[in-house]
Amino acid sequence: MKNKIISLSAAFAFVVFTSCKNETKSEGSDLAQTEHQSKALGSEFDSEINKLVAQMTLEEKIGMLHGTSMFSTGAVKRLGIPELKMADGPLGVREEISRDNWAPAGRTDDFATYYPAGGGLAATWNGDMAYTFGNSLGQEMRARDKDMLLSPAINIVRSPLGGRTYEYMSEDPFLNKKIAVPLIVGLQDNDVMACVKHFAANNQETNRDFVDVQIDERTLREIYLPAFEAAVKEGHAYSVMGAYNKFRGEYLCENDYMLNKILRDEWGFKGVVVSDWAAVHSTVKSLKSGLDIEMGTPKPFNEFFLADKLTAAVKNKEISEAEIDIHVKRILHVLFQVKAMGGKDRAKGSIATEAHYQDAYKIASEAIVLLKNDNNALPLKLDGVKSIAVIGNNATKKNALRGFGAGVKTKREITPLEGLQNRLPSSIKINYAEGYLERYEEKNKGNLGNVVATGPITIDKLDPAKVLEAVEAAKKSDVAIIFAGSNRDYETEASDRQSLKLPFGQEELIQKVLAVNPRTIVVMIAGAPLDIDAVSKKTSALVWSWFNGSEGGNALADVLLGKVNPSGKLPWTMPKKLMDSPAHATNSFPGGKEVKYAEGILVGYRWFDTKNIDPLYPFGFGLSYTTFAFDNAKSDKTSYGPSETISVSVDVKNTGKTDGKEVVQLYASKSDSKISRASKELKGFKKVLVKAGDLNTVTIEVPVKELAYYDVATKKWTVEPGKYTLKLGNSSRDIKKEITVTIQ
Ligand code: BGC
Repeated sequence: MKNKIISLSAAFAFVVFTSCKNETKSEGSDLAQTEHQSKALGSEFDSEINKLVAQMTLEEKIGMLHGTSMFSTGAVKRLGIPELKMADGPLGVREEISRDNWAPAGRTDDFATYYPAGGGLAATWNGDMAYTFGNSLGQEMRARDKDMLLSPAINIVRSPLGGRTYEYMSEDPFLNKKIAVPLIVGLQDNDVMACVKHFAANNQETNRDFVDVQIDERTLREIYLPAFEAAVKEGHAYSVMGAYNKFRGEYLCENDYMLNKILRDEWGFKGVVVSDWAAVHSTVKSLKSGLDIEMGTPKPFNEFFLADKLTAAVKNKEISEAEIDIHVKRILHVLFQVKAMGGKDRAKGSIATEAHYQDAYKIASEAIVLLKNDNNALPLKLDGVKSIAVIGNNATKKNALRGFGAGVKTKREITPLEGLQNRLPSSIKINYAEGYLERYEEKNKGNLGNVVATGPITIDKLDPAKVLEAVEAAKKSDVAIIFAGSNRDYETEASDRQSLKLPFGQEELIQKVLAVNPRTIVVMIAGAPLDIDAVSKKTSALVWSWFNGSEGGNALADVLLGKVNPSGKLPWTMPKKLMDSPAHATNSFPGGKEVKYAEGILVGYRWFDTKNIDPLYPFGFGLSYTTFAFDNAKSDKTSYGPSETISVSVDVKNTGKTDGKEVVQLYASKSDSKISRASKELKGFKKVLVKAGDLNTVTIEVPVKELAYYDVATKKWTVEPGKYTLKLGNSSRDIKKEITVTIQ
């Protein structure tokens, strides 16, 4: 099994550690920012591919262009061409699905590791965690004999209500690409293709089957495409999934502009474009517009658009066989690339191993975000503590499966309650109370997963007996911990949420528990922003966790008890109220038949910062059990040419008593710009471990081309000359140092 990380030359090493004055140099602090690269698709298989195609019948060729089972395409056994075998998805390898319907295949060998969801992975702000995620998951894919993982899902989080926010990474294109690329490389290092989805402009679930998304060109290029572009150009992703919706009037699986012009002509993509499941609407048009494989159409496989209808179209001369060959060759190419064409040393992989659970643990423990910690309420000090009330349905709720869409069948999902049971000394009594019930309006239940309807309607009235039990547990315990938030039934693919409100009456429950036990810690388990303004005001300690994988409960207990010092940072803005968010403030979500992204480039913190709206918790925010000071910020030069790289260094001192990891974030601003810009944009970051009392010098490299904007008139990325302010901080709202540089 390969497990390689390719480091670039010293010039690209992002971190330089120096010891300084009487501070000692940290050991083992070289975190993240290793540059990762995948092998680009070359031409070494061309002659073999040509030979194969020359021997194939038209029917055999067309069999490769569409699903011949729920998750595979046709094989040509006589020529040694196997099926291309796919599996979801973002949380780990999905259980085996029946060949011709959505029912689980009922196998016993498809238990997998459940990895933290995309939002959690992004919250690590750590490229090495993304590589670990991809590499570990790639091994699981091979153990299941799969060729293509339908992941990563990297659409921009435009609205906090988006049903798939938990699955996606971020509201910011730079963080998005810095997580996506190493994930893809890690995966593809295991002879598995990444299928990067959903290309593109698929940022809501409401009406996703037909909504026509209108985005101006600059916004498209600067916000919605960069992670896809990096996935192709830097990650060398071997496949891309076309989205359900329309973009500028054309479905994305038959969108010549997106698939042919941008993806292939501009970015040089040589891999295959796979449709989302049931996202194809035409035969010749789809193929000519750049689609290669049709999947999931709810019809017998031979009735797919790219099946018998395509054979007929060739026979009618609506499309030539030479054109069919182009698509077949692309598919053969990626099959060769991952050694599916009889490659001898193909990775064999392993699944649900202890090592993989530990990968999931590492990611989970770096993903947890400490939002509030007044009077050092956390980590919990156990001296004198004899009992802890554990309250909330989320203390025992499992999220590996559930909701609509891909989950993971796993033998291990440590819940928060189990995590505490595992980690607390047995002398401490746990008083568990469910507190609130997960309940939905019956009439709306059937709408779960209905893409036209709004999300599930919850019953927000508390059950008095449950409240009483929770309040009694809190009263009689020395400490109370409430596990609240949402879950994967409430946050789900195929519907967006209706509001940011905490569902199931949780806010009232939290207030009641806080009233009887001032030593109450609130832990939110959710994948997307929630209205936690009132809760945040009342509680002294607030922790944010995610659908955080097989080891999520252990990681959470380790954070609460101080074995792990939290280092997660929010990958999106937590608004005070929904209407503060750009898509809602501009009344442009979710639209009807059409949705126009009226906020333009001002997505996420770009909007909040430019419009001076205070978020509840800003993008990039997350506390630690220690404190850090930034000092001595400087750039290597004061003036740079357009093809140079700015090297910025800053001393990060751990001024507390606990070792900890901090994320140094670099934002760029150009106040005198001739074009309209966001007040600041993330252009670099680096996570660093600094031991208590130590000082590390962190260096962040910013290629000047990262400062470019997309000039619609010239259709070029353009760096405006002049002065730029580089802002170093530990959230988008906590800027500690500023440096000015000039670009010639
Ligand atoms: C989702 C994709 C997924 C596919 C196959 C679709 O509904 O949008 O993300 O990969 O189903 O399960």
